[in-house]
Amino acid sequence: MAKPITLEKILFSQGFGTRRYCSDLVFAELVKVNGVLAEYPEEKISPESLVLSVDGKDWEFHEKAYIAFNKPSGYECSHKTSHHPSIYGLLPQPLVERGIQCVGRLDYDTTGLILMSDDGQFIHKMTTPKKNIGKIYQITSAEVITTKQIDHLLGGVVLDDDPAPCFAKACEKLDDRVLAMTIVEGRYHQVKRMMAAVGNHVAALHRTTIGQYVMPTDLAEGEWRWLYPDDITQLSKSIDS
Ligand code: URA
Repeated sequence: MAKPITLEKILFSQGFGTRRYCSDLVFAELVKVNGVLAEYPEEKISPESLVLSVDGKDWEFHEKAYIAFNKPSGYECSHKTSHHPSIYGLLPQPLVERGIQCVGRLDYDTTGLILMSDDGQFIHKMTTPKKNIGKIYQITSAEVITTKQIDHLLGGVVLDDDPAPCFAKACEKLDDRVLAMTIVEGRYHQVKRMMAAVGNHVAALHRTTIGQYVMPTDLAEGEWRWLYPDDITQLSKSIDS
């Protein structure tokens, strides 16, 4: 049973602003706790299965935030962007406020699955190259994909900034110009550069899977959802220990 915590601290931990601001939200009668209007910021409540409502919007309590996001094209994965809007602008402010970060970035024109969290250890575990986590990209290519190109990708290609070759762990040709490719590293523009190195060109790139976590089919572009302990367990199974 989780220890009761004051409502003010809970709101602060979820990214609703400074402790003072959170306290004012309660006094302004803008906070409900499991459907009941809260009166006192100092009231101690159990965070277990807690649903808050803040200014009319429901908010599940999560001690740490883990989310899956379906990135649309045309957004950069950084806070300080150079040419395009930031994906952080597509997320609710409390998630941004509590410091949620991408678990590996996608290019501005790549779409699909991004995991995000405010748990530094989780981000480190998921991104460290030693852990060999497979990521599946669906590539739509400019030219027809040949068996020779697939063999080359599987056999390893050398990119211009590193003499060590990088390999596709698996390739599945889904159509003449559509390839599902699994890679375990995360080098800069890796998929695009690998495809260029074998004489083809990426026309569109979409990430479908990270480790054993597959993008939910009902998660629309630009939408996000919480990950729950079962999802985290599934992701942990993807990690080489
Ligand atoms: N490889 C790329 O080239 N771009 C991405 O966004 C991800 C992997």
